[in-house]
Amino acid sequence: MRHWRPGIVQDVPPPGLIDLGPGYPGPDLLPVGLLGDAYHRALEEYGPAALAYGHNTGAMPLREALAERAAATDRYPCGPDHVLLTAGTSQALHLISCLLGRPGDVVITDQYSYDLGRRIFTDCGLRVHAVAMDDLGMDPVALREALRDEHAAGRRVAFAYVNPTFHNPTGIVVPLARRTELLEVTREYDLMVIEDDAYAELALEGGGPVIPSMAALADYRGVLRLGTFAKTLAPGLRLGWLLGAPALVASLGEHGMLVSGGSLNHTTSLAVATVLRGGEYDRHLVWLRAELRKRRDALAGPLRAFSGERIGCRVPGGGFFLWLEPCGATEVREEAHAAAAEAAGVRLAHGARFGTGDRPRLRLAYSFNPPAVLTEAAHRLVEAWTV
Ligand SMILES: Cc1ncc(COP(=O)(O)O)c(C=O)c1O
Repeated sequence: MRHWRPGIVQDVPPPGLIDLGPGYPGPDLLPVGLLGDAYHRALEEYGPAALAYGHNTGAMPLREALAERAAATDRYPCGPDHVLLTAGTSQALHLISCLLGRPGDVVITDQYSYDLGRRIFTDCGLRVHAVAMDDLGMDPVALREALRDEHAAGRRVAFAYVNPTFHNPTGIVVPLARRTELLEVTREYDLMVIEDDAYAELALEGGGPVIPSMAALADYRGVLRLGTFAKTLAPGLRLGWLLGAPALVASLGEHGMLVSGGSLNHTTSLAVATVLRGGEYDRHLVWLRAELRKRRDALAGPLRAFSGERIGCRVPGGGFFLWLEPCGATEVREEAHAAAAEAAGVRLAHGARFGTGDRPRLRLAYSFNPPAVLTEAAHRLVEAWTV
């Protein structure tokens, strides 16, 4: 923790405050030794080729390993031509916005969605149309209406952005039937779907969701699926991937950014490939899921005991977030809950950061702090909200 300070890392919680804002792994979950060895192995094995400009769509060893994993989880015949390596999901969203969108186009999102994803879209000149969701995810009827309205108004819709597995911020896993319904609507309108699967490998119960990805359900036609190592290994790697139909993947790989500099994260890609190939990644995931389960339960336990009529607490089966709904008091706004929490030394994220709803909502991340700190945070919140 010596160097966990401003000027080195993006965000440092103020002393004394328990910060439940950051949606990323805490310092004690970051595998320093494992990745140190991985870089060493990659440099030994690939020599100068590990330090050259990389192949435009990404280094073959990692693309092969990722295609194999996607083929196994989705039972879909993915090959390396389905894979483009990215500098994480944020960069993939930027690339997609540049290539599939034109300034003024519309992007469909869930009613609540990853706020910084929306920021990337609007920074690229796209306009966000948020579509109502229920406990199963985006409402297909509302999606159809939104598309009809946008077309009637003569606006072009560039793509729909969804995050159907352990959704940020709600934790929802969209069930199979709903995925199929949504795909029927997007097919009807010939609309590209961007499936952000940042948390798909972080199921905390049993073997995780056995629900196929929307990409696999659509035979990878009209869906691009995004993955990232930011949540499962380390955000600082800035390494992710996208999966899609080979022709579309090849055309994304033709973007000037990739032709000019090659794959965005070549040395790191080769290092991470050794971690996947050697089985260390899967072993790390088993450990990480167990640690996250402890964290989720340490935070959710006291809050659930308290919840009842005061707070609705959705305990997710995976991912990083608890999504709270202060009940019975629409007049008590989320700012009031957040202010009371902060006065008690706990910072959390307002629902309004992620979208607009009819009732107050709060997002609490359990990924950053160790279990004892999370339990302390939960007790402070109970006390702050009991008055
Ligand atoms: C849904 C979702 N997508 C993407 C990201 C960012 O991914 P990356 O760090 O790979 O850019 C996040 C991080 O919070 C996220 O929650």
